[in-house]
Amino acid sequence: MSGVDQLAGHEPGRYTPKVILVTGAAGFIGANAVAWLLREHPDVQVVAYDAMTYAAHPQSLAMASRGAAARFFFVRGDVRDGDVFATVLDGAARDAQGRPIPAADTVWHLAAESHVDRSILGPGVFVDTNVIGTQRVLDAVRSARDAGRAVRLVHISTDEVYGSLGPGDAAFTEAHPLLPSSPYAASKAASDLLVQAWARTYGLDAVITRCSNNYGPFQFPEKLIPLMIVRAMAQQPLPVYGDGQQVRDWLYVEDHVSALWTVTRSGVAGGRVFNIGAHGERANLDVVRGILHALDRPESLIQHVQDRPAHDRRYAMDATALREATGWEARVPFQHGLEATIRWYRENAAWWKAVLPESQKAAEALYLKGAR
Ligand SMILES: NC(=O)c1ccc[n+]([C@@H]2O[C@H](COP(=O)([O-])OP(=O)(O)OC[C@H]3O[C@@H](n4cnc5c(N)ncnc54)[C@H](O)[C@@H]3O)[C@@H](O)[C@H]2O)c1
Repeated sequence: MSGVDQLAGHEPGRYTPKVILVTGAAGFIGANAVAWLLREHPDVQVVAYDAMTYAAHPQSLAMASRGAAARFFFVRGDVRDGDVFATVLDGAARDAQGRPIPAADTVWHLAAESHVDRSILGPGVFVDTNVIGTQRVLDAVRSARDAGRAVRLVHISTDEVYGSLGPGDAAFTEAHPLLPSSPYAASKAASDLLVQAWARTYGLDAVITRCSNNYGPFQFPEKLIPLMIVRAMAQQPLPVYGDGQQVRDWLYVEDHVSALWTVTRSGVAGGRVFNIGAHGERANLDVVRGILHALDRPESLIQHVQDRPAHDRRYAMDATALREATGWEARVPFQHGLEATIRWYRENAAWWKAVLPESQKAAEALYLKGAR
């Protein structure tokens, strides 16, 4: 039994994954998922599938699979290319090193265009990848099932599909209406609805998770926490949208991955939704101040910039349904997770320096001009 299963009140799961295909594996959560699965579950094999867009880091999968290469397979592929994806899912392909790939019994569908700022600058690829790509994944899972091979799908979504909360509102439950604000959030909401429809219409073994903002190692430095860490280390101005009082519910990425495992093991299907959160509500400005404090940098580096259009004011997740169904709870306190994250960026400067110019592009286009 894994450490996660030993959490108080958790019933051992009814489903045991053996080969997990992770889409978007070379991105932030994907790389952490690969590392965690290979480390915590020595009987699990991992097939990584990624188109290697700008958001993928070429070194992340090598780092995440170190010491477990025999149980790890990588294929460069696009989720929109349904034929290639189906071949990989069915174990009818070879990996980048020419080894035969095992057929997957489980898919963790993480591949997506994920950056809200970029979705404002160019929404088309968000609809393509997040909506059409998800339909291709669903159809491949359906074809495998129709051919007599059961595949379980975990579709990873976001709190952003629920829209924004006011300061006194109760946290989002799974019953909250879908009210996305950004093109990114709308494309994720659309993909969630496809998963529910495929579960109902075709009886697919599928479940949807919606998590709050993740942070941790391997996150592309265009996102708030790593962006602020690398700029603070370089003594550059830290751009904060508007008054910085936007509240996010921070979840350490390993807690997220352990929740995905718990949901997978639970066997719950039918397109059911589970929220994942860590009671980690914090205003962006306080997060930025915490980073400056940890790095011994002055608050005068903070530079308020014009707020993002349709910027959601507050997210907060109620993960009671997941706790009641499985016993899962987040374990990593924010301060601890933030310190571990800062340490990781300090120790892995070569990793983030390699992607720094690309990571600043959306920020440059939207608000960084002059903030040097
Ligand atoms: N990071 C968060 O805080 C957060 C919060 C809630 C939900 N999510 C969801 O989790 C998932 C992963 O997020 P992330 O932060 O790791 O994203 P990321 O941008 O770091 O990584 C996305 C990965 O998907 C790959 N990809 C993009 N388009 C692809 C395509 N067409 N085919 C195959 N691969 C493709 C990229 O190359 C990249 O490696 C996304 O679905 C996102 O919506 C993330």
